[in-house]
Amino acid sequence: MKNVRNISIIAHIDHGKTTLSDRILEITGAIEPRKMRAQYLDSMDIERERGITIKSHPLRVFYKSKKDGQIYEINIVDTPGHVDFTYEVDRSLAAVEGAILLVDATQGVQAQTVANTYKAVEHNLEIIPVINKIDLPNANITETELEIEDLIGIPGDEIYKISAKEGTGVEELLEAIIEKIPAPSGKDEDKLKALIFDAKYDKYRGVIVYVRIFDGSVKSGDKIMTFSNKQTYEVVEVGAFTPEMKKVDSLNAGDIGYIIAGMKEVSMAKIGDTITSAKDPTKEPLPGYKEVKPMVYAGMYPGIPEYYEELRKALEKLKLNDSALVFNPDHSPALGFGFRCGFLGLLHMDVVKERLEREFEMAVILTAPNVEYKVVLKNGEELLINDPAKFPSESEIQEVYEPYVKLSIITPPEYLGKLMNLVQNEKRGTMISTENAGFERVVLNFEVPLAEIIFDFFDRMKALSRGYASMDYELIGYRKSDLVKVTILVNKEPVEALSMIAHKDKAYTMARKLVDKLAELIPQHQFEIPIQAKAGGRIIARSTVKALRKDVLAKCYGGDVTRKMKLLEKQKEGKKKLREIGRVSIPQEAFLALLKVG
Ligand code: GTP
Repeated sequence: MKNVRNISIIAHIDHGKTTLSDRILEITGAIEPRKMRAQYLDSMDIERERGITIKSHPLRVFYKSKKDGQIYEINIVDTPGHVDFTYEVDRSLAAVEGAILLVDATQGVQAQTVANTYKAVEHNLEIIPVINKIDLPNANITETELEIEDLIGIPGDEIYKISAKEGTGVEELLEAIIEKIPAPSGKDEDKLKALIFDAKYDKYRGVIVYVRIFDGSVKSGDKIMTFSNKQTYEVVEVGAFTPEMKKVDSLNAGDIGYIIAGMKEVSMAKIGDTITSAKDPTKEPLPGYKEVKPMVYAGMYPGIPEYYEELRKALEKLKLNDSALVFNPDHSPALGFGFRCGFLGLLHMDVVKERLEREFEMAVILTAPNVEYKVVLKNGEELLINDPAKFPSESEIQEVYEPYVKLSIITPPEYLGKLMNLVQNEKRGTMISTENAGFERVVLNFEVPLAEIIFDFFDRMKALSRGYASMDYELIGYRKSDLVKVTILVNKEPVEALSMIAHKDKAYTMARKLVDKLAELIPQHQFEIPIQAKAGGRIIARSTVKALRKDVLAKCYGGDVTRKMKLLEKQKEGKKKLREIGRVSIPQEAFLALLKVG
């Protein structure tokens, strides 16, 4: 049996995954102390700043067991901590035999702890429960023990207690990994079967594919094939994560490492796909591969229309490294040429926007995000619509369907009433079940339209529960729904980029709020500007931007010089800060006003 252990660390956001990995690197001597910095593994700037892990970072360490004196190779696959990237968590778990379930002693079991534990159980992983942050004065170890016991039925005295920050208990944990996690079972002689669990684009080396070898082995010069599309490649290099990438002679059954094989963009290495030998391919791929689909869509336009080409190039470059990003050319009468983009969620959208700004110095206008609707027309045709501007007219529509999710919220019982009210009365949700989860904690399960939770839901839930509630969701399919398109007219002209799809019951209130918000955001002009919302052929709400009195004209465009505006100036065309629509100038924020009225 090989001295290899493959594990993943699963935890709710901020419970200490990255800190624990850092400590393991330090204890096993994988990184020299002078190179060690906090959150060594969160290498993308945005990840470090926001304190969230977006891409998974594998690492390989060697540990000499104090018990049997033998040296073990331990591969740790870190998992993304945000619900936008759930699919990647699944793939990481498919690559290992065991999981460390890490729970913050001051926070207890949270929604993602539960969701990820269920996933680990589905993957038949051996789970080692660990309570972290025991050094903190407000650590509540006994309660956390009870919660974990409730979740997976492991008694309190078998739960490891550590401080990832100070290193307390981490060696004992390493011994437990060796003792409790099964060694990988594949054979080097069998046909090659490697699971792609991540991929990264490198400017100089092309795509670096992160793999777990289940059976067989692979070395440079081998001809390999991706199972889903039967594309073949020649292997240029294979290696391990130490955590820096280090070339090795071959990767064998049970190993975790990387393959470089001349792939030009990450979409060629689909997460969840199986790599096999081109000459002697396996008949059966590894289970569970599915295409990742965007959940939300938004229009993206260059800050200045002339920068369309630059924006396209920037998006193409980003796409090399982000296979979940989808974009197609689009045109809006108000905003000109741009793109319709698909994202995994709002965090993903923010990350893309920020990377465009930082790495490509591109200022962009984003329109409010929305989900993808299924529309059945009276003539029987079925359409998928992800742009409200393209929503068919009411007279053509037979039925409309929208995506629904199963939403789980975990909360202390005192916030139950407020949260149920939020989901059921404001967000069109239906309660499915409630369960107790350990001491003073309730799990609420709902079915809710996805459109209702992509906007401000997370913040509302946090505010109502004073930060204590946490959530997780997964797509469950399409449901028939009573939806209407609300068109916004500015100075009597329809501005498609501002239009939205709303449920009939909420259309009026949302339209009301939106026109009021727009009236605040659109600066005064020398004439009065009516702002109207139209649905089902009639005006349902109206607001007005009053005409400006001449003597205060000088002040009019003073205010808000945001970072975006500064970026625009950098592009030396600072004068065209606002979009002219008809005779009206509309600022960027107006296009996102919709986010504030959900
Ligand atoms: P995501 O990648 O966002 O999911 O977070 P994470 O689970 O990787 O958490 P991370 O390691 O970034 O830790 C979150 C915060 O908790 C950081 O500020 C850490 O310094 C702190 N932290 C982690 N472990 C401990 C611990 O044992 N004790 C104390 N006091 N703080 C800790």
